[in-house]
Amino acid sequence: MEKGMISLSPARILAIETSCDETAAAIIENGRALLASTVASQMDIHARYGGVYPEVAARQHVLSILPVIEQTLAQAHLALSDINAIAATRGPGLAGSLVVGLNAAKGLALGANLPLVGVNHLEGHIYSAWVYNSGEMAIPEPEFPLLALLVSGGHTELNLMDAHLSYQRLGATLDDAAGEAFDKVARLLGLPYPGGPSVQKAAEGGDPTAFKFPRAWLEGTWNFSFSGLKTAVLKECKRMEGSPLPVADLAASFQAAVVDVLFNKTMNAAREFDSKQIVVGGGVSANKPLRDAFLAQEEFPINIPRISLCTDNAAMVAAAGYFRYALGHTDGLEIDIMPTWPLS
Ligand code: KG4
Ligand code: ZN
Repeated sequence: MEKGMISLSPARILAIETSCDETAAAIIENGRALLASTVASQMDIHARYGGVYPEVAARQHVLSILPVIEQTLAQAHLALSDINAIAATRGPGLAGSLVVGLNAAKGLALGANLPLVGVNHLEGHIYSAWVYNSGEMAIPEPEFPLLALLVSGGHTELNLMDAHLSYQRLGATLDDAAGEAFDKVARLLGLPYPGGPSVQKAAEGGDPTAFKFPRAWLEGTWNFSFSGLKTAVLKECKRMEGSPLPVADLAASFQAAVVDVLFNKTMNAAREFDSKQIVVGGGVSANKPLRDAFLAQEEFPINIPRISLCTDNAAMVAAAGYFRYALGHTDGLEIDIMPTWPLS
């Protein structure tokens, strides 16, 4: 058996995710086969504020959490008695949001006498890469060591995994996360929230070479930086104030700079650490040019979650929760949320 490959007992995990503005529940069998997944998005509510309004998000989770859990069980035609453990995102995320999901999970675990597993949101994004619909062809199991690029609204990091649940953070952003840069640039260009999909759409008709935006390579480190790029876009917008902005060209040139750095630094790290595969996860892994760049290379096998599992969902929490449960990392009812909880 290869390093990192383990034989684990079968189990069904019901997971809850409420770290930001999606109320989500899902059931996964054996860490990878998805039986049911529900995501109640609050996107329309927050769009009018141009970003997530934490207090409103927490109140919405309170309203949605029970219907979302009930709908997920119904969709899988299962009862709580068919579940082996309850998992929930414990952090990182918005405190008022996390507390709703974690407490719902505690209630279910206590009421149904099931083990509780607190999951790190970031490991969830990594584990989403192996999730497939139950009944469909299975995605091959992870091969270690692997390199995981994590690109979300709050985080951008490169992690080396040499076994399940073992993370070595090689580098991370020194300022803005990649998703945050997309969101801020969207605002500069007058594009609607959420910024990532808006910038991608606007960029479709643009020329990615129209503006020579800076790439922060930060040579000799595996860190990232996107605030200089964001400032460069701001400067161009100010320079052209008074005349209509070439939004498509600005969006395409900005996106090309982000993808260039994320793709090339990840490839270099994969070579340096003799990775057997590359995994890309988090909201920004939904970005088409980024996906295309990784899918076009043939040097490393690549796992990127399908689009519906890139942004926040509970399937990823169930997937990571299964490995925590199966490897004996369960928690007691006394655990609390961890609004900042680095992966390693
Ligand atoms: O993982 P996620 O749903 O939430 C966090 O954990 O932060 O990531 C959300 C981020 C947002 O910044 C959003 O703009 C970005 O992912 N995003 C995208 C795309 N879809 C979502 N960024 C670029 N291109 C996309 N298609
Ligand atoms: Zn996320």
